[in-house]
Amino acid sequence: MSYADVYESWKSDPEGFWMEAARNIDWVKPPSRALNADNAPLYTWFQDGLVNTCWNAVDRHVEAGRGEQTAIIHDSPITQSKREISYIELRNRVASLAGALRAKGVEKGDRVIIYMPMIPEALEAMLACARLGAIHSVVFGGFAANELAVRIDDCKPKAIIAASCGLEPGRVVHYKPLLDGAIDMASHKPEFCVIFQREQEVAHLTEGRDFNWHGFQYGVQPADCVPVEGDHPAYILYTSGTTGAPKGVIRHTGGHLVALSWTMKNIYNVDPGDVFWAASDVGWVVGHSYICYAPLIHGNTTIVFEGKPVGTPDAGTFWRVISEHKVKSFFTAPTAFRAVKREDPKGEFVRKYDLSGLNAIYLAGERADPDTIEWTREMTGKPVYDHWWQTETGYTIVGNPVGIEPLPVKPGSPTVAMPGYDVQILDEAGQEVAPGELGAIAIKLPLPPGTLPNLWNAEDRFRKSYLEHFPGYYETGDAGMKDEDGYLWIMARTDDVINVAGHRLSTGAMEEVLAAHPDVGECAVIGVTDQLKGQAPVGFLCLNSGVGRDASEVIAEVVQMVRDKIGPVAAFKQAVVVDRLPKTRSGKILRATMVKIADGEDFKMPATIDDPDILSEIRTALQGIGYAK
Ligand code: COA
Ligand code: AMP
Repeated sequence: MSYADVYESWKSDPEGFWMEAARNIDWVKPPSRALNADNAPLYTWFQDGLVNTCWNAVDRHVEAGRGEQTAIIHDSPITQSKREISYIELRNRVASLAGALRAKGVEKGDRVIIYMPMIPEALEAMLACARLGAIHSVVFGGFAANELAVRIDDCKPKAIIAASCGLEPGRVVHYKPLLDGAIDMASHKPEFCVIFQREQEVAHLTEGRDFNWHGFQYGVQPADCVPVEGDHPAYILYTSGTTGAPKGVIRHTGGHLVALSWTMKNIYNVDPGDVFWAASDVGWVVGHSYICYAPLIHGNTTIVFEGKPVGTPDAGTFWRVISEHKVKSFFTAPTAFRAVKREDPKGEFVRKYDLSGLNAIYLAGERADPDTIEWTREMTGKPVYDHWWQTETGYTIVGNPVGIEPLPVKPGSPTVAMPGYDVQILDEAGQEVAPGELGAIAIKLPLPPGTLPNLWNAEDRFRKSYLEHFPGYYETGDAGMKDEDGYLWIMARTDDVINVAGHRLSTGAMEEVLAAHPDVGECAVIGVTDQLKGQAPVGFLCLNSGVGRDASEVIAEVVQMVRDKIGPVAAFKQAVVVDRLPKTRSGKILRATMVKIADGEDFKMPATIDDPDILSEIRTALQGIGYAK
């Protein structure tokens, strides 16, 4: 069948399409129907089925005789170690960990926060929660204690599972003091913590509250898989919104299993037993879906890589891992290749390794610029496929259906809508625009299985953020266009979310931190174009009158404050002091105009601007830090 046939088969009979896809999953009780629209515009999928994620990701492969196959390869150029875990070992380790969690009172529906670096134990912790029907929420290691505290207070975990430390090149990230700080800050207190002590740092355990990962499993009864309903939350993953408060994206169990399982062959074109590698982090959605769940559900070998594209030890690391572990499909963010290209523009490292086993490279997380796609394709000789998705959807909205039919690549476009997604470009009035015209990208409801059904504790925010602007649609927050061939082009966010090195960040959250500085009267943060990271945040500060200190002191302090409050991942390193901010007559800060000035682009003077003269001050300030050329 062609892509067009498959898409049409979904469109003409979505219920039949997804019920058929659900056959790849082992159900304790099969669902009687796919979609439940009783509560529209809130939808659920496979609601009356009973199923367990861990069974589908681990146990069933052991039962089917694949227990000896490698499930996880840990490759850490930072610790210079490699390790393999078979499916049977994984089953035993996860059952034991789940048993120990249960012995301490963790049950179906309880929340568990996981705060761990790129080690197999992070996946084991996720799977142990899934085994019990507990709802995990993984928090990325590059966030500060304050961000962890916000998540603790929102999802109120019974337990937190953490490692003693993470390892960044040249720096140990001391997780335990961050964890202790977060628990101190949060109003909600977890009943207990489980700490995985890494060789590189042994953390101090708090008597009575903290348990050692190994010690607390001693002598416990391993846990079996607990069947849960199709609409039972598998996890909550927090992501940046417009304000400082992160959004808790919920993932339901049944749809998650069905949709991820569908993607592995149809999009990534791998079969059970193949090695699949997503070079991301378990703290992001790519890590949830394509380091942990999808490859395991599909019976692949997944790679947990603790390193960076460059510097660990060189720009050849990706190629080494691909050739050494015989990776068939590789997935990363464009920024990673920009980093590799900068260090190895002629691809000398690429030629040192045998990449014959690699079929294709997939990019997502931010706009893939045609230069990076072309360079990667030329150096590797492999097809490079961009695909567009979000934390909210959990998998590809627009991509190249390589396992069905590879479609011609148009660099700069992630290709076409996947079955399940009716993607439309709308004008402000909610009308579909003509091909080639820019507009807001929206998806006709219902969203397919596996996408977010709601936000944790925040249904109003869910409706306001995604459903109200265009009734009958999900608003993606991205703007773009569709061409005559139905290819989508994703151009920019329509909100204050920026994308730094493939990491989604909120400028609003950074502004909240800057505004808390006692000398700052007013502020704004924008995302300017950055050659390596795609975008970089730049802050504008208006100091209170009478502040007699040197501006550079205040700038250094706010940079440190963002690092302390949000974390190093915000990569907030630049700010300027200005007298005033450009605003509309109604007082709205003209951030988009500031971005255009910073990027040296032409712009139309906003008709509603209060005082156009301010723009030249903004330009001069930006030139002082190397922008607005
Ligand atoms: N724990 C603690 N700190 C972390 C972290 C983690 N898991 N991940 C990143 N950080 C820190 C970095 O050490 C850095 O700190 P520094 O300011 O002290 O140098 C800061 O956060 C910014 O990190 P990053 O923006 O990633 O920049 P970098 O200079 O370390 O690396 C790249 C640049 C391009 C090599 C890197 O960003 C990369 O590999 N990106 C791929 C992105 C990706 O996989 N995205 C997931 C979506 S698919
Ligand atoms: P996240 O939720 O962190 O995955 O970020 C999702 C956002 O990243 C999207 O809304 C887009 O703005 C951007 N994004 C992700 N993938 C792509 C892509 N392939 N092309 C353009 N933008 C992308």
